[in-house]
Amino acid sequence: MGAQEKCQNWVRIVTAQTPTNIAVIKYWGKRDESLILPINDSISVTLDPNHLCTTTTVAVSPDFSHDRMWLNGKEISLAGERYQNCLREIRKRASDVEEEEKGITIAKKDWENLHVHIASYNNFPTAAGLASSAAGLACLVFALAKLMNVKEDEGQLSAIARQGSGSACRSLFGGFVKWIMGNNEDGSDSLAVQVTDEKHWDELVILIAVVSSRQKETSSTSGMRESVETSLLLKHRAEEIVPKRILQMEEAIKNKDFPSFARLTCADSNQFHAVCLDTTPPIFYMNDTSHKIISIVEKWNRAEGTPQVAYTFDAGPNAVLIARNRQVASELLQRLLYHFPPGAGADLNSYVLGDTSILHDAGIKGLKDVESLPLPSELQDANSVKKCAGDVSYFICTKPGQGPVVLSDDSKALLDPETGLPK
Ligand code: DP6
Repeated sequence: MGAQEKCQNWVRIVTAQTPTNIAVIKYWGKRDESLILPINDSISVTLDPNHLCTTTTVAVSPDFSHDRMWLNGKEISLAGERYQNCLREIRKRASDVEEEEKGITIAKKDWENLHVHIASYNNFPTAAGLASSAAGLACLVFALAKLMNVKEDEGQLSAIARQGSGSACRSLFGGFVKWIMGNNEDGSDSLAVQVTDEKHWDELVILIAVVSSRQKETSSTSGMRESVETSLLLKHRAEEIVPKRILQMEEAIKNKDFPSFARLTCADSNQFHAVCLDTTPPIFYMNDTSHKIISIVEKWNRAEGTPQVAYTFDAGPNAVLIARNRQVASELLQRLLYHFPPGAGADLNSYVLGDTSILHDAGIKGLKDVESLPLPSELQDANSVKKCAGDVSYFICTKPGQGPVVLSDDSKALLDPETGLPK
């Protein structure tokens, strides 16, 4: 088939959108590298796909000669073990498809010989370290499952997405999600379940500080392998600390108990980074900016007498801050903009992204308002407070969000319905 030629036969396409997630009890360490089985349970919050998500279009046609994938417009190889495992597991579960208006009939046995095209796009920078692989792999599995009429539910699909990237299994649901580590050797019981949906605790507001960094980070995959091999703290964490924390965290979420939620979230992030330091050679994911953000939140929480904001950091310097409600979120944004005003040449529109109504709540309309923000009250007695313009690349204001959805609007498709190639 030529580059832009119409297919001789039919093309069936499906487009889906899947959120990213941030862990509040971290997954760090595998007991099986190939099946991606973790050494402990983890819990995450799904982020609103309006601000952070992956959109994936998958297509099948008898005219396709091999499986192909494009990520953010560039063709990438599907040869890796993780992609192959996901494709194989989904194909195994494919069933009959009948699409009358297009004259498409696919029998279950046909799927083995049909090839797929996949195009995926992140609505946030892939390189920013915002769990793009979690949303991406979850979306790939979800979209293929719809294309191939797979009957399995989201829980069972999560066990397939897990084989693409561990944290991806938690992106199959909205709200708060637990990844149960499971006991079976084949990994069949290592899957995600929803703890509560996104409406349960909808007062929460999430602010992400994308921290500028020049450093090339150790990937999660190799970092956790090194921790499993060398850190005694990780062993203690997985066996003794996390099982208790998981129960406490589930309780805190169900009861919307923010102080307990915040204490557990911060403690778990800090312990994860302590494990990284306890790894030989040590791994440093946070930088000075990350540390400064922790100190801003800790001082403020202490001054308030009870936690207002929780912080958590993954395998990189970006801060994910969870505020107990909108009022707190607007005060948090004021504090963050006070310490980290935009760098030279930046404007507010490209510095605060996502749900920018928080800026309005904070009374900030332009750069002038940022310049005149007052010193936060808890720092009145501090000897010196240094402003760090340019240390944060941008902020994203978001909230807990829903799980994957199929997009029926064809204009959102990333593949041309006639050629099956990227639009
Ligand atoms: C720090 O899911 O990216 O974000 O399973 O090897 O693909 P692989 O790793 P990945 O690790 C995520 C680690 C983390 C914590 C978390 O999301 O729970």
